[in-house]
Amino acid sequence: MVVLVTGAGGQLGQAIKHIAGEYPKVTFIFCSSSELDITDKKQCKFVFEKYQPDYCINTAAYTAVDKAESEPEKAIGINVMGVQNIAEVCQEHKTVLLHISTDFVFDGKKETPYTETDIPNPTSIYGRTKLDGEVVVQKFCEKHFIIRTSWVYSQFGNNFMKTMLRLASERDVISVVSDQVGTPTNAVDLAEALLQIITVNQQLSTLNLYGIYNFSNEGQCSWYDFAREIFKINRIAIAVNPIPTSSYPTPAKRPYFSVLDKHKIKDTFGITIKEWEVSLEPFQS
Ligand SMILES: NC(=O)c1ccc[n+]([C@@H]2O[C@H](COP(=O)([O-])OP(=O)(O)OC[C@H]3O[C@@H](n4cnc5c(N)ncnc54)[C@H](OP(=O)(O)O)[C@@H]3O)[C@@H](O)[C@H]2O)c1
Repeated sequence: MVVLVTGAGGQLGQAIKHIAGEYPKVTFIFCSSSELDITDKKQCKFVFEKYQPDYCINTAAYTAVDKAESEPEKAIGINVMGVQNIAEVCQEHKTVLLHISTDFVFDGKKETPYTETDIPNPTSIYGRTKLDGEVVVQKFCEKHFIIRTSWVYSQFGNNFMKTMLRLASERDVISVVSDQVGTPTNAVDLAEALLQIITVNQQLSTLNLYGIYNFSNEGQCSWYDFAREIFKINRIAIAVNPIPTSSYPTPAKRPYFSVLDKHKIKDTFGITIKEWEVSLEPFQS
């Protein structure tokens, strides 16, 4: 079985690479943005014709949430038009597409975890482009899984955990937003869940399991709680100051609450999900 991974130089792409050795029956093709630019339809066709993938995990995305507010065309170009290219080549090659989406498709006005059937209402350009990306996947590729995730961190790429560790080496006190609640997701846990989806889908190929699924670690916390836990586990003594969102204005408006309900993915694919604190390990450089 051939699994092609787009955006392989990014955080999730590297996490998938990290666990690839655990799946000896799978031939992984990792394409970074320089090897496969998803906005280039000809290149998409060329790569799919060359490798004939059974599955494509599309981790490629424009992920600069705040910057998207000032360059929406670029975000749309990658998160919508680029995703359409991938969806279309997947359809042509009968490739199953696993596309990654986000909790930022929701407005955060709910007080209980978001299910896959809750109505999205993004509050940012990034969230809007990711939602539009979901729509093109649904429209252009029959065999698709859309996996919505949240607050992804790892030892790879740029993420909140690494920002906190860097700031701790530069400052004596750190202020962190305490009124936005969600769930951190260890990128390696997400990578394993994606491979479990592929494994189960292969075994139960006669069932139509396609559709939208939520995945994050279990539990919930604020960014402030998350920062404190990061420092605790890395044995860093630093003062952390809780602040409201209003004291940390950003160009993009983020949801106040974006915890995802994981019943569907657990029940369908037999995935066991760790609590976010359990999955958080000391940083390894
Ligand atoms: N990080 C989070 O907290 C979070 C939360 C919810 C959902 N997600 C979603 O999870 C997925 C993976 O995120 P991530 O954290 O791994 O993001 P990331 O580290 O920013 O990686 C994204 C990758 O996409 C690549 N890329 C950008 N434009 C491309 C193009 N035109 N063609 C091919 N590749 C391109 C980037 O390559 P270059 O660096 O070379 O441009 C980068 O390697 C994304 O769909 C994201 O929206 C992330």
